[in-house]
Amino acid sequence: MTQETKRSRVTTAVVREMKKRGEKIAVLTAYDYPTAFLLDQSGIDVLLVGDSLGMVVLGYASTLPVTMEEMIHHTKAVCRGVERAMVIADMPFMSYQVSIEAALQNAGRFLKETDAQAVKLEGGREVAEMTRRMTVSGIPVMGHLGLTPQSVRQFGGFKVQGRGDEAARRILEDARILEEAGAFSIVLEAMPAGLAGEITRSRGIPTIGIGAGADCDGQVLVTNDMLGAYERFTPKFVKKYANLSIPMREAFKQYMDEVKSGVFPGKEHSF
Ligand code: KIV
Repeated sequence: MTQETKRSRVTTAVVREMKKRGEKIAVLTAYDYPTAFLLDQSGIDVLLVGDSLGMVVLGYASTLPVTMEEMIHHTKAVCRGVERAMVIADMPFMSYQVSIEAALQNAGRFLKETDAQAVKLEGGREVAEMTRRMTVSGIPVMGHLGLTPQSVRQFGGFKVQGRGDEAARRILEDARILEEAGAFSIVLEAMPAGLAGEITRSRGIPTIGIGAGADCDGQVLVTNDMLGAYERFTPKFVKKYANLSIPMREAFKQYMDEVKSGVFPGKEHSF
């Protein structure tokens, strides 16, 4: 009898160990079962069900309209496709800002109703108490500093953060505060590489960069961006590993032509 070896799960302890060993952590976003399955089979360590869902899958202009129900629905689908990767669910706008009680209840829903192992919150000192309360309740929390897209209205657009001494000092302090509150990792988005490197060296928890240079402990990209499957806007920090919009359009066009000309279905597709 052949024994299939089940690949052991990536956990918060595993990513912390990876930082200690100097092994980079590969993170990508996922929103559905088939993509999550391929990402997991490819060995990606962590899948983030980002609220970028709102833009790259649901077609909203920002992440602000995303709801808890949408996040739960997509997180469940992702979890069904995963055996090894850690799955982290993003808490959508206004699901944790109103009160600590609401934040705890909503974070708890991800662990109770889906198989996600952790949640992610945007913000620094202002979410420290929530981070602490979630952590002591058994809900692992990933922080998110720098360009936090849920604050896009306050920033006046998707702009690099942490430029200048005062802004950089504030982000450095926020990283310390989040670690002390119990966060197991922090996303650093769109900030100077030097600042991200300083945070990474001064903190014991792994940093995951997106537009934050090469010195972070890991990197994350929005999967649809790196596949070239979201055409509305591509941030400067995205490297496109494929250009899937082109073969998709070609396939759709060829199908349409074949249906209209009667080439499809052929005998081999008929009973
Ligand atoms: O929503 C998201 O996908 C994110 C990542 C880009 C970090 O927050």
